[in-house]
Amino acid sequence: MGNSIPNQAGIPRHVAIIMDGNGRWAQQRNMPRTYGHKKGVEATRKAITFYARAGVANLTLFAFSSENWKRPQEEVSTLMSLFLSSLQKNTDELHDNGIRIRFIGDRTAFSDKLLKQIASAEQRTRDNQVMTLNVAANYGGHWDIAQAAQNLAEQVQQGQLQPSEIDAEKIAGQLSLADIPDPDLFIRTGGEQRLSNFLLWQLAYSELFFTDVLWPDFSDQVMQQSLNDFAMRQRRFGQTSEQVSNEQVG
Ligand code: IPE
Ligand code: IPE
Ligand code: MG
Repeated sequence: MGNSIPNQAGIPRHVAIIMDGNGRWAQQRNMPRTYGHKKGVEATRKAITFYARAGVANLTLFAFSSENWKRPQEEVSTLMSLFLSSLQKNTDELHDNGIRIRFIGDRTAFSDKLLKQIASAEQRTRDNQVMTLNVAANYGGHWDIAQAAQNLAEQVQQGQLQPSEIDAEKIAGQLSLADIPDPDLFIRTGGEQRLSNFLLWQLAYSELFFTDVLWPDFSDQVMQQSLNDFAMRQRRFGQTSEQVSNEQVG
């Protein structure tokens, strides 16, 4: 946490969340982990509404990592059916609220049915302006950087790009979310303090907010706390505190 004077960080333009703790939430209630995932969907709906109302223009949610396939088969298939059913149920509401939904991650592993539902939700909401919701599913930060490298290698092979022209900007331009600002605020619920292969490149200068609250319990109060906390941070991007303060005044 920074000093106690609010800076001009204001409302983050992009919030990225690792929605963690569903399994433990259920286990604490002697229920199967999948029950926690079902409850987690409700928390997800509330979070989308909250951050949209708060004026956050981009929200990225980690729904399923490239490593989550290693979980028990039953849990994986419950998660896949939950993605499908919650898209079927909630796309109308998203659309009515002016939210554009997009998926990031390697889609090749999804069923045809899920792929169709994803494509239709993306297509239907594509012109909405209130908030862009990016759902990271079968996403991994390593995958993202690797696919960016492949794209650049193809451009080199086709003679459109010199290897010496490859810089951070070129790589960033090929990543998922290249068209929106990097996350200003990263949130992880569930008490773990790690990135778990989420947006590795894009989180380079994000402010980090960790809470022990488990995802199904993620409330308006904690969400507001994440924004209040963010507003108190001084983002320096390598400069000194004085340089940043002078820029804000001037
Ligand atoms: C996050 O909750 C949801 C997904 C990974 C899909 P977890 O399922 O990881 O919950 P915990 O961490 O085991 O409690
Ligand atoms: C990260 O949570 C992935 C999602 C929330 C979708 P995990 O629960 O899979 O992360 P680890 O395994 O604890 O690092
Ligand atoms: Mg977890």
